[in-house]
Amino acid sequence: MCGIVGAVSTRNIVPILVQGLQRLEYRGYDSCGVAVYADGLKRARSVARVAELMSQVDSEKIAGGTGIAHTRWATHGAPAVHNAHPHFSHGPGEAAPQAPGRIALVHNGIIENHDELRAALQAKGYKFTSQTDTEVIAHLVDSLYEGDLFDAVKAATKQLHGAYAIAVFCKDEPHRVVGAREGSPLVLGVGKDENFLASDAMALAGVTDQIVYLEEGDLVDLQLGRYWIVDRNHKAAERPVKTVQAHSGAAELGPYRHYMQKEIFEQPRAIGDTLQGVESVTPELFGDGAYRIFKDVDSVLILACGTSYYSGCTAKYWLEAIAKIPTQVEIASEYRYRESVPNPKTLVVTISQSGETADTLAALKHARSLGMENTLTVCNVSTSAMVRECKLAYITRAGVEIGVASTKAFTTQLAGLFLLTLSLAQVRGKLTETQEAQHLKDMRHLPTALQAVLALEPQVISWAEDFANKENALFLGRGMHYPIALEGALKLKEISYIHAEAYPAGELKHGPLALVTSEMPVVTVAPNDALLEKLKSNMQEVRARGGLLYVLADADSKIESSEGVHVIRMPEHYGTLSPLLHVVPLQLLAYHTALARGTDVDKPRNLAKSVTVE
Ligand code: F6R
Repeated sequence: MCGIVGAVSTRNIVPILVQGLQRLEYRGYDSCGVAVYADGLKRARSVARVAELMSQVDSEKIAGGTGIAHTRWATHGAPAVHNAHPHFSHGPGEAAPQAPGRIALVHNGIIENHDELRAALQAKGYKFTSQTDTEVIAHLVDSLYEGDLFDAVKAATKQLHGAYAIAVFCKDEPHRVVGAREGSPLVLGVGKDENFLASDAMALAGVTDQIVYLEEGDLVDLQLGRYWIVDRNHKAAERPVKTVQAHSGAAELGPYRHYMQKEIFEQPRAIGDTLQGVESVTPELFGDGAYRIFKDVDSVLILACGTSYYSGCTAKYWLEAIAKIPTQVEIASEYRYRESVPNPKTLVVTISQSGETADTLAALKHARSLGMENTLTVCNVSTSAMVRECKLAYITRAGVEIGVASTKAFTTQLAGLFLLTLSLAQVRGKLTETQEAQHLKDMRHLPTALQAVLALEPQVISWAEDFANKENALFLGRGMHYPIALEGALKLKEISYIHAEAYPAGELKHGPLALVTSEMPVVTVAPNDALLEKLKSNMQEVRARGGLLYVLADADSKIESSEGVHVIRMPEHYGTLSPLLHVVPLQLLAYHTALARGTDVDKPRNLAKSVTVE
């Protein structure tokens, strides 16, 4: 999703700004731009890739020591140059609306009262050149400017409703950039006699590792060699400077064609790293004070979006079956707006790869506002807002995930959630030492088991050849493999653009069976568990209607390939942890189907990596 980089320096910062955008490219964007102070405001904008922007900047010789840059993921207004950031203000006195005005601004987030503000600014004579909510902020800051940019931004943010991170500079104060955040992430990078802003520390990798995480409502005034932060009440605020070894977003692809493929194959390592140091099951794996909280809670509420939501759905089966704790899983964007019945003795668990997903953060705050203070996150980014906002955390060590379609984050989340299940079970007296030892042994074997599943790739490729010319697919699962079917369908639809839906297999005859014809591939997740015989009946229902079955069977499922039935046999039966293994062929199926259809695997259309707007 949108990315911001800003800087105040004595050197030409254009290369740093553009490289920062390159490091944020993995989040997904549809246009980009940069503006600097060079005897006035200068900017370049493009609907092509950041590399194109770099060539444009070079050919137009755009250089300067103060500037801001942005990658845009369209919300208000189509992806087009005139909607790309930075936006300039065009005050009533300024002749041509296209000419650079006084204020340059970039923005992540959504301003909800932009229509109202736009009308008021138009009445004052401001001219708009875009359909964005962002241009409204640029004009608003200009309308409030009386010689001090920080004061103008303070006054402007008081009028904004919605979510934003902004970076802004003014041609009348060439060595100053002002930033503000509310609901969207923004960090300050402290350099030597120079300072930076970015939506993510990763954008500043190699520039500075001294990072200040701005808090909700903060405003920051960046100048050469100094910065100044105030909170939402405009009181001076001290925020710690952290040394952050940010990974560069441009991780090496190595022998792989795409980051998604690389990340699928990294899963044995990612699971190994996530479980590293786990010698025994103990609440302290989740942070200080976890024992007291785990002892106190009588239920679990999981809040997440997308793939992370499906890992939560899987964990519900574990939490109720093993820890015997009532568990609810909610899509964050639904939970935050519905009237629910709060229980202060609930453990609120957020799950997020990025730790910055706006809906999940808002759902967490909503839960807290209802008096549920016991919060825990399973998250892949230790410096993220999610980790800072929760009392307890389990940091998955998937490593940077660049492909928009989440893969290694999902399986590492499952590993973290399984540990959470075991810890809660232990505290609640539901886990014997023998069971603990067996579960830990199974977890340690996961990297090896995953390697064996990855070796099934050639068989999955032959399935993908069949799927490449289909426009619809059904996925079936039962029990804890139903969320795996959901995740398989999500992966296929988001990167191959094939319409895919998942159902609990028992629901088939309550509706979706009507869709089944010889044109409909039906993927069935069929581990050898207590529901296998039921699932086999559901498979018969599909075959009887001419549907084509693609079955992920367990080593000992006793399901054979036959006409219209394609079977891939999993190398070993893995019991409770089998969702972590069954999802892998489904990731590979989506990847190879997308490859065969020629779609942009790592940056699927319309999608972004870190969804920082609601
Ligand atoms: C799908 C995918 C998304 C994310 C969702 C939540 O492949 O990546 O559905 O899972 O946007 O993101 P996080 O986990 O960062 O909160």
